[in-house]
Amino acid sequence: MKMYLIIAAGAIAMSAGANLQAADLEAGAATYQTCISCHGPAAQGQAIFPALAGRDAEYLADKLQRYRAGEQVGENTALMAPHATGLSDEEIENVSAYIAEEFD
Ligand code: HEC
Repeated sequence: MKMYLIIAAGAIAMSAGANLQAADLEAGAATYQTCISCHGPAAQGQAIFPALAGRDAEYLADKLQRYRAGEQVGENTALMAPHATGLSDEEIENVSAYIAEEFD
């Protein structure tokens, strides 16, 4: 029952959009380790890799969902998409909240 309530609360928080309170920033930080090689330790981007710093969580999560869905987003989507396909909804929410919170 308790577990059910937690899951239900999570689903409500996610349907309400980016909810920083509900996001697990530590888990987001762990996921972000796999993004650093391209987006940089401060999410500042480099060369063809766009900066993520300064973006809000909603923007980031929307992009990640689109990459995961196989949508062609920009010219270099082929480089990014493989890094989004393995992410769960929760991981997208957490990593987006982490980036928005940590590198604003
Ligand atoms: C192999 C390099 C690489 C890795 C690793 C990588 N990305 Fe990307 N990312 C890119 C490239 C290249 C683009 C631009 C893609 C395009 O043109 O559509 C991008 C775009 C994005 C965008 C959209 C930015 C914008 O303003 O449009 C987000 C959000 C993003 N990446 C998040 C992540 C996250 C989170 C991770 C780790 C889970 C990650 N990326 C890992 C290369 C990478």
